[in-house]
Amino acid sequence: MNMLSGFTKFTTVFIVALASAASAFAAGDPAAGERQAAACAACHGQDGATPLAPDYPKLAGQNEKYALAQLKMIQDGTRNILLMAGQLDGKSEQDLADLAAYYASLPAKGGQASGTDEALAIGEQIYKGGIAAKGVAACAACHSPNGNGNTQAGFPRINGQPVAYTIAQLTAYREKVRATDEAWGGMMRGVAEGLTDTEMALVADYIQGLN
Ligand code: HEC
Ligand code: HEC
Repeated sequence: MNMLSGFTKFTTVFIVALASAASAFAAGDPAAGERQAAACAACHGQDGATPLAPDYPKLAGQNEKYALAQLKMIQDGTRNILLMAGQLDGKSEQDLADLAAYYASLPAKGGQASGTDEALAIGEQIYKGGIAAKGVAACAACHSPNGNGNTQAGFPRINGQPVAYTIAQLTAYREKVRATDEAWGGMMRGVAEGLTDTEMALVADYIQGLN
């Protein structure tokens, strides 16, 4: 009897320990994330989709895996964002997961392209077909045809992002200033290497209008 209750107690403790260990690595809690997000809204917008400046990113609807990975790299300086200095100080991995879950839970908001039909057709061609002659892979292959990304893999949603933000990121990858794709074998640096400024601008405008 004693042994049995001892065993029950042990298994209960064991299961609770397992569950909390799992939750430390599992999905964040959007409500807990929302409670930390007031400071973020100043730049990323109350709805996470109306950034203060044209080169600030939308966060709403971004997949959790990607957002969490970026938050960790912003916190440890791998991705150096001066404007976010101090914003993530003292936050635990769970806090970051909660923030990522919160933004993932918000509805994404699309944008609109501004180029001519001709310019957009070239942007679309790059997005969907890449540039074979230069070995540039099709963006759609990883970011999906509608730009929603790939939640499972943690490939980011890029549709609806402001043109200036997308150009800034592609340029940063090309100049190797942004190296957050290390875990992916540098795949975005490889893609961006093959793009001229003009091609970046064309594909960025197409992406802004993607939904
Ligand atoms: C003072 C403005 C400012 C504040 C406040 C701010 N951010 Fe940012 N954030 C930025 C800018 C600017 C960038 C993009 C920088 C770049 O070009 O790489 C960014 C990038 C990000 C990214 C990467 C997005 C992507 O698509 O890769 C995430 C995630 C993020 N911020 C989350 C947060 C969270 C969470 C908070 C609040 C705890 C916050 N930010 C507060 C300005 C801000
Ligand atoms: C082989 C897969 C792959 C291909 C092809 C690819 N990407 Fe990416 N892209 C990624 C991954 C993975 C990341 C996230 C890397 C990181 O953590 O920095 C990313 C990140 C990005 C970002 C930064 C997103 C943000 O919120 O900061 C932009 C912009 C982007 N890609 C645009 C493009 C464009 C435009 C093309 C086509 C010319 C393209 N990608 C082709 C996999 C790919």
